[in-house]
Amino acid sequence: MKMIEVKDYQEMSKRVAEYIIEKVRTSKKLNLGLATGGTPVGTYTNLIEDHKQNYTSYQDVTTFNLDEYVGLSGDDSNSYRYYMNDQLFDHIDIHKSNTYIPRGDASDMQKECLDYEKLLTEHGGIDLQILGIGSNGHIGFNEPGTSFDSNTHLVELAPSTREANARYFSSLEEVPTKAVTMGIATIMKSKEILLLISGENKSEALSQLLHGEVNESFPASVLRNHPYVTIIADKAAIAAEK
Ligand code: F6R
Repeated sequence: MKMIEVKDYQEMSKRVAEYIIEKVRTSKKLNLGLATGGTPVGTYTNLIEDHKQNYTSYQDVTTFNLDEYVGLSGDDSNSYRYYMNDQLFDHIDIHKSNTYIPRGDASDMQKECLDYEKLLTEHGGIDLQILGIGSNGHIGFNEPGTSFDSNTHLVELAPSTREANARYFSSLEEVPTKAVTMGIATIMKSKEILLLISGENKSEALSQLLHGEVNESFPASVLRNHPYVTIIADKAAIAAEK
C-alpha cells in the first residue's frame, strides 16, 4: 500500500479528482467504483467544476456504487442513488443508464445482490474503486466480522455506523437498519483502489490499517493484501496516528 500525505480535506479532494480526471481522459472505457458519505463530496465537487471548465467527458464512463440502504427508493433524499445524482451525475455528461447502484427497494433483495455481482462481472470488473473508511474499519457497508470471501450481500448496520450516518436523517430511528453492499471479495477484485481518509476522527482507523493485523474484525485490513492500493490521507488523520 502506498500512502500520499496531503495538507487537508481540500487538497485531498483536489488530488483525488485530478487522478480520476486523468483516468477518464486517458481511458477508452472506464469502470469507476464510487462511494458515498461525507468523504468524497469534495472530490465530486472538483469533478463537476472541471467538467464545466475543461469539458472532461464522462460519456465512456460506467460507474458502480458500493452500497445502498435497504428500504429506500432512489427518489428518497437519503438514498445513495439520490446522493449520487445530486452530488455528481446530474452535473456531468454521464449517461444515467451507465450508472449502477444496488436497488434498495428491489422486491427480492437476495436476487438484487446476485444480479449486482453478475453485472459487475459482465462489465469486466472495476478499473478504479474510490473508497472511504468507517471508524470501525468498514469499507462499503462491510462491518467488522464480514467474511473476506463475501460477494454483494445484505448486511445489518452496526449501531456505530447508524449513529455516524444519522446526521443526514431527522432522527436516529429513521436510519435504515439494513443495507446492501459489494462484498469484500467484490471490492478486492477492483484493479486499483484509492482510499480517502480525512480528519482526526479517522486517525485510529488509519493507524489500525497501517499497523494492525489483517483480519476480519477490521475489514479495511484486507486492503493490505491488494496489489494496487493508494491511501490519500490528510494531516489531521495522520498527525493523531503518529
Ligand atoms: C459509503 C461507504 C462507506 C463510507 C464510510 C465513511 O458508500 O462505502 O464505507 O465510505 O462510512 O463515511 P464518511 O465518508 O461519511 O465518513
